[in-house]
Amino acid sequence: MTKLKVGLIGIGSIALNHLEGLSKVEQAQIFALSSRTVTALEAAAERFGAERIFQDYRELLQDDEVEAVWVCTPNRLHYPMAMEVLEAGKHLFLEKPMADTLDECRQIHRTAEAKGLSVSLCYLSRYMPTCRAARQAIDDGRIGRPLMFVGRRMWRRDEFPGWWRDEKHLAIPHFASHSIDLGIWYLGTRGAEVFAMAASKKPQFPGESEYILTTRMENDTMMNFEFSMTSRHTQFDHILIGEEGTLTTLPNTVMLNGETIFEVDDDTLYSQGFYEEAREFVAAVNEARPSLTSSEEALKSMEIVEAALRSAETGSSVSI
Ligand SMILES: NC(=O)c1ccc[n+]([C@@H]2O[C@H](COP(=O)([O-])OP(=O)(O)OC[C@H]3O[C@@H](n4cnc5c(N)ncnc54)[C@H](OP(=O)(O)O)[C@@H]3O)[C@@H](O)[C@H]2O)c1
Repeated sequence: MTKLKVGLIGIGSIALNHLEGLSKVEQAQIFALSSRTVTALEAAAERFGAERIFQDYRELLQDDEVEAVWVCTPNRLHYPMAMEVLEAGKHLFLEKPMADTLDECRQIHRTAEAKGLSVSLCYLSRYMPTCRAARQAIDDGRIGRPLMFVGRRMWRRDEFPGWWRDEKHLAIPHFASHSIDLGIWYLGTRGAEVFAMAASKKPQFPGESEYILTTRMENDTMMNFEFSMTSRHTQFDHILIGEEGTLTTLPNTVMLNGETIFEVDDDTLYSQGFYEEAREFVAAVNEARPSLTSSEEALKSMEIVEAALRSAETGSSVSI
C-alpha cells in the first residue's frame, strides 16, 4: 500500500494529539516534522518515527516527498502558512479557526480549488463519538425535523498559551466556531442572520471573554450559544430540539428525551476523534473528494463568526 507522506508544522500541545491520531491511520506515514524548538522536534520525531525534521517550516514545504501538511501553529499564522502550503502544491490540514477574516478563508478555499488540493479543518466535534451518535440519531429520524440548537460553555480559565495575548479576538473564532460548525452539521443548513453580544471581563484575555450568539438559519431553524470564561461552575452542553424528540449532548454522554442512549470515556472520546479526523482527511485526499470538514464547509461557520464579531461591535443584527 502506498502511504500518504505527511508533514506537520508546530509541535505544541494540540499537535501531539494529531500525531497520535495520524499514527493509527494505515494509509498515512508521519514523514516530516517542523518546530523551532529542537527538543520538542527530536522527541516527537523519535516517538512517531518521522524521517525528516526541520526547524524552519519553509524547508519542510520545499521537500518534494511531503504530500500533505498539518498546520498546528497559533491562529494568526493560519492564513499565511495555509497559503504557503497550498502554493507549495501540498494538501492542507488546518487547525481552526481557518483564518482571521472571511476574505482570507475564501482565498484559501479558492487557491485549493484552483490547484486541485484538499483542505480539511480541525472541527473535531464532527469526529467525536458523542456527536456522531447524536448525528446518527438525527439520521435515524429519532427527533424528527430539527428546529433549534442551543449550547452552553461555562467555565473559568486563567492560564493559557502566551500567543493568545497576540490575538485580537479569541472566544468567538476560537471556541464558538466549534459549536457553530456542529450546529451547521446537525441542522443541515447555513446562517442567514446573526445577533451577538460580547463583553470583555478578563483584562489579561484578548477580546471578548463572554458572549451570547443567536443565529437564524437559512431553513428557518435557530441556534443560540452562551459562553463564559469567568464562570466558577463548569457547564458544557448542547441541546438539539426536534419536532419529535430532544437530544442532549454532555461531554461524554448523549441523551434522547432525557434517557442516556450513548456513553464514552474521556480517553476514547478524544483519541477516537483525532483518529477519525485524520483518517477522513487521508481518505479524502486519496479519493480526490471533499472531506467532511472541507474548506467549503468551514466557510459556512466562518460566515457566522465574522457576522457575530460585526454584530457584537455594532450592536445590530447582521445578515449574511
Ligand atoms: N481543534 C481544537 O479542538 C483545538 C484545541 C486546541 C488548540 N487548537 C488550535 O491549535 C493551534 C495550536 O494551539 P496549541 O494549543 O497547540 O498551541 P501551542 O501549544 O502554543 O503550540 C503552537 C506551536 O506553534 C509553533 N509556533 C509558534 N509560533 C511560530 C512561528 N512564528 N513559526 C512557526 N511555528 C510557530 C510553536 O512551536 P515552536 O515555538 O517550537 O516553533 C508551538 O509548538 C491553534 O490554532 C489553536 O487554535 C485547536
